[in-house]
Order: sequence, then C-alpha cells, then structure tokens
Amino acid sequence: MSILLKNAQLITINNQDEVIENGCVGISDNKLDYIGSYKPGFEEAYVRVIDCKGKTVMPGFVNAHNHAAMTLFRNYADDMKLMEWLFEKIFPLEDKLTGDAVYSASMLAIAEMLRSGTTTFSDMYFFMEDVARAVGESGIRAVLARGMHGDAADPKDYRLKENLELFDKYNGAFNGRTSVMFGPHAIFTCTVPYMKMVFDKAKELGTTIQIHVAETKEEVKACLEKHGVTPVKLLYDAGLMDETVVMAHCVNLTEADIDMLAEKRVNVIHNPGSNLKLASGIAPIVKMLDKGINVGLGTDGASSNNNLDMLEELRMATYLQKVHMDDPTALPVDTVLRMATVNSARALGLGDVGSLKVGMKADLIVVNTEKPQYYPKYNIKSAIVYSGNSSDVETVIVDGKIIMEKGVILAFDEEKVLHEAQKFSELLTR
Ligand code: NI
Repeated sequence: MSILLKNAQLITINNQDEVIENGCVGISDNKLDYIGSYKPGFEEAYVRVIDCKGKTVMPGFVNAHNHAAMTLFRNYADDMKLMEWLFEKIFPLEDKLTGDAVYSASMLAIAEMLRSGTTTFSDMYFFMEDVARAVGESGIRAVLARGMHGDAADPKDYRLKENLELFDKYNGAFNGRTSVMFGPHAIFTCTVPYMKMVFDKAKELGTTIQIHVAETKEEVKACLEKHGVTPVKLLYDAGLMDETVVMAHCVNLTEADIDMLAEKRVNVIHNPGSNLKLASGIAPIVKMLDKGINVGLGTDGASSNNNLDMLEELRMATYLQKVHMDDPTALPVDTVLRMATVNSARALGLGDVGSLKVGMKADLIVVNTEKPQYYPKYNIKSAIVYSGNSSDVETVIVDGKIIMEKGVILAFDEEKVLHEAQKFSELLTR
C-alpha cells in the first residue's frame, strides 16, 4: 500500500541532520519514495493519506543490543551484584524456559519497544526460532543471534548448529524484516578457537557477529590473569576484529584498546542503563567517536535496565558523557540521535534503515508533539531528546506497514500478550 504523511515536522537524520517544516513523507510498498515539502495534488498519488499536523515524524529507533525475552525477569531480582544476580536468580529460571515462554516474553518486549518508538531490535538469546516467530507476527524488524557459550573441542556443541539453522531459515525472512547474525556470548564463555570457528562461519555466510566485550572490571581482570592481555587485545591478536563485528558494552577499555577498535573498524554498542544499574562503569563513548568508531545504542535485556525505552537510553547516554567528560558540550543532540538510529543500523549491517531518505526502508514513528513538554518550539530535536516522552509515540510504521496507529497496536492483541507473559512468569517462579 502507498501512504502519504503530510503536514509533519520531519527529523530526517540524513547527512545534514535536516529538519523539514510542514513536510511530507511518501511511502510505496516498503520504501520511502518522497521526503520534502508539500506539493499540491500529492494526495491523489497515494492510497492512504495521514494528516500529521502538530506531529513530528522521524526514523524509528534501532535498539542494537537486547535480550528481548528477559522481560520475563523484569523486576524479579534487583539491586544485586552481577554474578550473584546471574547465578542465583537468572540462570535457575532460564533453565526452566520453554520456546513458548520465550515467544510470550518476546511479544511483551516487542509491544513495549513499538510503544516507545523502536522499529528494529537486535537480539541475542536462545529458543531463537520462537523469537523469530514473534518478529514475524508482530511486524517489527529484527537482527537475531543465537547466544553461544562454547568450546571448539566439545563434540556435543549444539549452539553453533542452532545459529546456523536460524540463519538458513530466517535470514531475509518476512520480506527481509529478519536477518541473522552470530552471537558468541563473551570471551569468558567462549574459547578463542570456538570464536574463530564462529567468525569463519560468519565470513563464509557474509553476515555479522555480536559479542559482549569489557563489560565489567572483573572480566578485564580475569582476562589479564588468564591470557596476559585485555579482552580487546585478545580478540585483536586472534584476528577476530573487523567491520562485521559488533561489540556490546566496551565499558572498561584502555587507550590502546580504543586504538585497536578504531584500526579494525569494529562497531560498538553503548548500553548506559544496564551499565549504570549493574555499576559496570561509564563507557568512553566520546573518545571512541573522536577516533571514528561507529557507536550505536541499545538497552540490553529488561532485567538489567529495567525497560526497553530507547529515548530514556539516549538521555542517559548524553548525560553520562557530559558528567564523565566534565563537559556539557559532550555528546550533543544530533550525535546521540544518530547513535540511536543510523549508527545502530549500520552496526547491524542494515544500510537502508535509520534515516528518512528516499530509497530507505519505510521504518518511522509519528510523535505527538502538541503537548506542554514540547513548547515553546525552538528546536524539535532538543525537545525530543531532552524533554520528550516515549509515550508520546502515536503511530509506528515498519517496512511500509502501519503496526501501531494513534496509540493502538494493530498487528496483535496487546492485552493478551500482557496476560500471557504474566502467566508464564508465575509458572516459572512457582
Ligand atoms: Ni547483553
């Protein structure tokens, strides 16, 4: 179907970070076919015309690091140390998970993400076919990876096989809404030969890899003790770094680590909410950006955040860098908006997502900016980042289809999703 959004204020996130007043967005099939000012007679060219007077249209957020099904453990165990939280609370529940529970929790995550303006997410978890099922049904876009712990010498390893099966079945599925990457979990859960095996497979298939790196001080300390080098240097020396690699967190880095990431053109995903809640530290984002590293943004799982609200993440990211650098000019609005959209998309290998440009995928959100927190109207980008609410997202379009309109999710029964998730949480913790 072709759709015209008219009378809107457009935040394009194009190369000039342009804002267009009284603008129009034309959609045909799943692509943007017009971005610009209104021209008389436009309406006749489109099947559906949506008047966006008083509204702002911008690209949907790209949540580049998530474990969607962990919504099931949201607020189940908080204010704990990472290792105790994982081993005493999370792992025992994860052992009891089923495909249906993961599907239900993923639907819950997707409902929350759509409501807060996210149109693409990346996911690293297990029972990934059930996550793919949720992506297919809900209409959102996703890049999926099977989270893998592994040892190349283990003949019983089934995780890489599952990631490969996921790739065969779902890479490019649902009109290209899903793509599949590889998900070696971390340097302390995978051996170097195993990571090499995964890296070679990803190369062979022409896809990308996502891994957690240097999240905590403990991880770095243990790596120094075991291997004599930092986690980044370990991966560098093993030849496991290039532009197809996405590293989540990268909180505890040395100057030399940052230089290696820049040299190898590795993508970094910043997760400020999770880093704050787990007291992991403050990632040196400004330094990485200054060195030309592509840095995207993610929420991490909902049990260490505890929501999947990208707008909150944007705000935390910019505030944290300002304090960290002792500089209020650090990570300005345009930069943090790019991190949450085009940079995240580029990290995930999605070159046609994250900005309003002709030819790009029609993934966008309509924000109701006719509310007190957006007035007076000086700078709409500042208003969104510093004073907006994600609950002001009214309409969500993914791949040219209206998934949510005027606050109502059309693609699935949201109430049922909430109740099912509650049911599974009670089953798991009983
Ligand atoms: Ni994570």
